[in-house]
Amino acid sequence: MATLLLFVLFPALLWESFQTQEQFHSFAHCNETLLNYISKTCQIDFHQEMQNNKKELWCDWEQVIRPYNRLTMCMEYVAEALNCFFPNHIVQDAFIHIHALYFQHCPDQHEGFIDAPQCVVITLTLVPVSLIPALVFLVVWKSKVRD
Ligand SMILES: *[C@@H]1O[C@H](CO)[C@@H](O)[C@H](O)[C@H]1NC(C)=O
Repeated sequence: MATLLLFVLFPALLWESFQTQEQFHSFAHCNETLLNYISKTCQIDFHQEMQNNKKELWCDWEQVIRPYNRLTMCMEYVAEALNCFFPNHIVQDAFIHIHALYFQHCPDQHEGFIDAPQCVVITLTLVPVSLIPALVFLVVWKSKVRD
């Protein structure tokens, strides 16, 4: 609910601020105070969803992935709207705090919260790498055809 409110209210507030030249400057560069303050709204929503879940389910990836993704998207949205880099140290600190609060005692398999699953990493690395020989072959073949 808080997220919904944020997505409706925040653009309106932002637009309001753009109208006044003075405040425009505070949005032109990342204002970390503001980022810290507004990103708390995303976190409140996440905390609420986690409190609604039973504690035993905190380590259940299936239960947590939706609110966790929503939190990530919300943080990214706020950071981008404020012209902040994403991720940045404020966002990282917030995630470290959340991990310490909810996922610290989860079994090892939940390190997937921080690192992408290994198979995804391998696929994302191998696909571009395996394209290189094909591209080299194509270039060599093309130049031979031209000769
Ligand atoms: C950041 O935003 C806050 C709240 O609007 C404002 O008080 C502060 O002066 C701003 N800081 C900078 C560096 O612009």
